[in-house]
Amino acid sequence: MHSRHELLDAARRLVQSKCSRKPRIAIILGSGLGGLGDEVEDSTSIPFGEIAGFPTASAAGHRGRLILGTLSGIPVVVMQGRGHLYEGHAVETVTFPVRLMRELGAEILLVSNASGGINPRFSSGEIVLIDSHIDWMATPQLRPGGDIEVPNRHGEAYDSALQKVAIQIALDSGFSLAKGTYLATLGPNYETGAEYRFFRFIGADMVGMSTVPEVLVAVELGFRVLGFSVVTNVANPDQLTKTDHNDVLDWAKVAQDRLLPLVKKLVASI
Ligand code: HPA
Repeated sequence: MHSRHELLDAARRLVQSKCSRKPRIAIILGSGLGGLGDEVEDSTSIPFGEIAGFPTASAAGHRGRLILGTLSGIPVVVMQGRGHLYEGHAVETVTFPVRLMRELGAEILLVSNASGGINPRFSSGEIVLIDSHIDWMATPQLRPGGDIEVPNRHGEAYDSALQKVAIQIALDSGFSLAKGTYLATLGPNYETGAEYRFFRFIGADMVGMSTVPEVLVAVELGFRVLGFSVVTNVANPDQLTKTDHNDVLDWAKVAQDRLLPLVKKLVASI
């Protein structure tokens, strides 16, 4: 059993032996949103499986590669896919890549996910900026006395200055970005009508199964964080329709047409 420190050191050396450029921005591409990874220029890509300490990304729509290169001329490190707690990974494993990307020198984290919309104003395919979250994952590892330190965080996890820039770029591109609270469940199941209703009642606008552990660790490490949630299905608790992962991936693909140019412009201007 290697310590986190040893694993991180080995992972950093492995990545730096393949690409010596220091990334400035780290990007996590969620379900069906991996397309941006293919647009990284001058790229080196490393399958997650080759990096000890990394999760495997087995969920459909997750390529499971770490890509280093440039986007809009800016050095980036991109996770094409992620590990989820519902795949059986520990919080330590799911968040290890965030630690590595910080270790490589990244200062800003752009994180994305696919989510269910519980704010009825949202529509499928809409991109929403995450301005707050609710940790409904009930993961003891994140609690005091667990296996990772709990960040003693003051204030909001999501950087408001970065949100302003993203909103302006979207407006200049002809669309608006709503803001919302993302609630994370452990998954892998989608919600019952009663759960959607309850999550709405406690203040959530979107619900998904990722992002919160990564963001907590990113904030602890000093990253400035910006989160995008792509709403793939809007829940109507009183007339619930079946959600399946393929619909989620289809809507995520639709949203990519806006998200990719948005992220590229953002990377160039932050
Ligand atoms: N619930 C949870 N996670 C999701 C959903 C949902 O409705 N849609 C996409 N990811």
